[in-house]
Amino acid sequence: MSDKLIEEIIRRYDGDSGMLIPMMQDLQADKGYLPPERLRTLAKELCVPLARIYHVATFYASFRLAPRGQHDVTLCMGTVCYLKGAGKISEAICEEYGIEPGGTTADRLFTLQAVNCVGACALAPVMIVDGKYYDGVTSESALKIISGLSTEAPTAEAEAGG
Ligand code: FES
Repeated sequence: MSDKLIEEIIRRYDGDSGMLIPMMQDLQADKGYLPPERLRTLAKELCVPLARIYHVATFYASFRLAPRGQHDVTLCMGTVCYLKGAGKISEAICEEYGIEPGGTTADRLFTLQAVNCVGACALAPVMIVDGKYYDGVTSESALKIISGLSTEAPTAEAEAGG
């Protein structure tokens, strides 16, 4: 299957497979992630093993293999938050929405991420939704906050970083 963008990217780097990382960055810039069929095409066109491309894609945190959700839900999994129940909150969210940590809901509503200490341990456990901090969350309050996302798109203020 021909893919004009991949052809163009390969031309941009003179077909040099040593430029795989910038090629993959350019490819990701198109949709915000690396669709599997495009990685297959890239591997074929460059005559490099698909496993090598996946190795690069999974080694660097900046590459994404799945589309992001409309909202970002981040749970702090630092020691204090964890001791105060962040693990259980994560489990509750994953169970409710049928996702894995790091995953995106099927309807692309949100992507659940985990981070280490965000420096607000006194407020643990901490959840951050589209840049807004929620402190002292419980499984119940976290699910309630997330359920409120279904109808509201991120505000211009949240998109601009608050
Ligand atoms: S461990 Fe979560 S804010 Fe420090």
